Amino acid sequence: MAEQKERTFIAIKPDGVQRGIVGEVLKRFEMKGYKLVAMKMVHASEDLLMQHYIDLKDRPFFPTLIKYMTSGPVVAMVWEGKGAVKTGRVMLGETNPADSKPGTIRGDFCIDVSKNIIHGSDSVESANKEISLWFKQDELCSYSSCASSWLY
Ligand code: RTP
Ligand code: MG
Repeated sequence: MAEQKERTFIAIKPDGVQRGIVGEVLKRFEMKGYKLVAMKMVHASEDLLMQHYIDLKDRPFFPTLIKYMTSGPVVAMVWEGKGAVKTGRVMLGETNPADSKPGTIRGDFCIDVSKNIIHGSDSVESANKEISLWFKQDELCSYSSCASSWLY
């Protein structure tokens, strides 16, 4: 039962918002069977993004990444369900869209690693950290999904 409550943080990056891919991403996660627990549009600060990508701070692309991620609003979401972190990453595709298979979000909707339209947590530990960074506790909705017994 607890395993069905695994949560992942997914964010549609500024290019994904500008290119109108929000609905497609929502559709894919909904149709898969994951439960939407939180969602908001936010033009994130440099400070928030630096905390979010802190593990990459020494990489050469870090300044470009922060500029990209603060260039417009993002749509931040929390999705819940069995294997949400790992399966979420599979649904996204590889970091570089050129290595992403057709059928994945990055494989289907983008071309270049510097504009790869979506973020997904890479572990349960990162997911928990990212969820508490982007959302207040009272922004995470608690409700039972009527689809649950048809999924598990
Ligand atoms: P994300 O955190 O955004 O979901 O991406 P990821 O786990 O697949 O990849 P990560 O290594 O965490 O990199 C974070 C984001 O940095 C940008 N990047 N640019 N120019 C480059 O070589 C390069 N490498 C990474 C991408 O936007 C990547 O998603
Ligand atoms: Mg990452």
